[in-house]
Amino acid sequence: MNDLATRAAAMPSLDVAAIRADFPILSRQVHGRPLVYLDNAATSQTPRQVIAAFDAYYGGYNANIHRGLHTLADEATAAFEGTRETVRGFLNAAETREIIFTRGTTEAINLVANSWGRANLKAGDEVLISRLEHHSNIVPWQMLAAELGFTIKVIPVDERGVLDLDAYRALFTERTRLVAVNHVSNAFGTVNPVKAMAAVAHAHGALILVDGAQATPHQAVDVRDLDADFYAFSGHKVYGPTGVGVLYGKAELLESMPPWQGGGEMIATVSFEAGTTFAELPHKFEAGTPAIAEVIALGEAPEVGRRRRSRRHRRLGGTAAGPRHRAGPAHRWPAHPGHCPGQGRGALLRGRRRPCPGYRAADRPARGGDPYRSPLCPAVAGPLRRGRHLPGIVRRLQHPGRDRRLRRGPGARHRHGQVSPGRTGSRQTDREPPDIGTP
Ligand SMILES: Cc1ncc(COP(=O)(O)O)c(C=O)c1O
Repeated sequence: MNDLATRAAAMPSLDVAAIRADFPILSRQVHGRPLVYLDNAATSQTPRQVIAAFDAYYGGYNANIHRGLHTLADEATAAFEGTRETVRGFLNAAETREIIFTRGTTEAINLVANSWGRANLKAGDEVLISRLEHHSNIVPWQMLAAELGFTIKVIPVDERGVLDLDAYRALFTERTRLVAVNHVSNAFGTVNPVKAMAAVAHAHGALILVDGAQATPHQAVDVRDLDADFYAFSGHKVYGPTGVGVLYGKAELLESMPPWQGGGEMIATVSFEAGTTFAELPHKFEAGTPAIAEVIALGEAPEVGRRRRSRRHRRLGGTAAGPRHRAGPAHRWPAHPGHCPGQGRGALLRGRRRPCPGYRAADRPARGGDPYRSPLCPAVAGPLRRGRHLPGIVRRLQHPGRDRRLRRGPGARHRHGQVSPGRTGSRQTDREPPDIGTP
């Protein structure tokens, strides 16, 4: 048997029909034939669970987050912050405040360029970018270099489309400040040895930004194991929605960086006289109303939740090849009509997903068949109240009196982006190629 045949034989069998059934778009016909879609590198198709999350949010608890003092706002905030915790687990980041929601990989890289880059780069400095980069990891650096006068040096690739790592090491000087490189190339599919590249960068006192847009759909990512300073990915390439993505950054770096966009939500205090102070992480980098439904739906993307659970499964003594891991992305978690956001959220917070008892009760005609149950519905409120695995925001929502950010008061108006003169508002691996040697 050749290598491919051996690997194919070792693969668990896939229930293709069940997987297809999770993607409504695959039931349509194109040119008189069932749709076959292979353009996943551009964008992946969207499973029912993710589509249902939009329906549940807009039909059940549409509200702005972090600023309202009513039930819908509490529910929307809990669901939104629940996704932050899910994504933290997906990347194995240490803290939820290291997860910044953006519009996608492109905006995440622009955030780093305009915040960290503007604060730390100057004429004479050097930034290393590989020849394999997507435009989104080239152009922001070119634009900034034209303004600030630093130099961009290009890591070459060989004839196989593989980075020349000897040349990479040779490019470093005492002026090298940053390496910006993709984890997996969108052009060739090359998997770059970013863990080893990070070690080289750190040995030279430089940071590393990893563009994970093409890696996150295909392999487990552990930002702590990689020792990435920044890691970016897009929701729509991991079976989530468009218009949402993530920037991971090490907390101490993000703390030291200035905000890059100003507005509501990212401020602590606003005053014409005393000046403005900024919110804590992660809100400092999330100005204005975010893509609430998109973020919540990202938390329902099968890959995002599966990796988190399978990592936990391994920690509990299972193996990566254990039954849950082998189950494939979507078909283990059939969404039901009238999907309850709480079943995903509450179960995810407990580390497992089960059918929601709250939904079943609601499904009975006697209860009016209300298909929409909140993330704080009785079925999941128990574990939420116990609060053991909860993001801080959920605990604060349940005890608003203890949290200055959720109190009514002069600051409340400022949270909506308004400012009154003279008043200060208070708002409060992965499949790594071989090691490339010591730096
Ligand atoms: C490697 C890589 N980086 C960045 C991007 C940009 O992603 P987005 O357009 O979602 O911001 C893409 C999109 O194809 C990509 O393949």
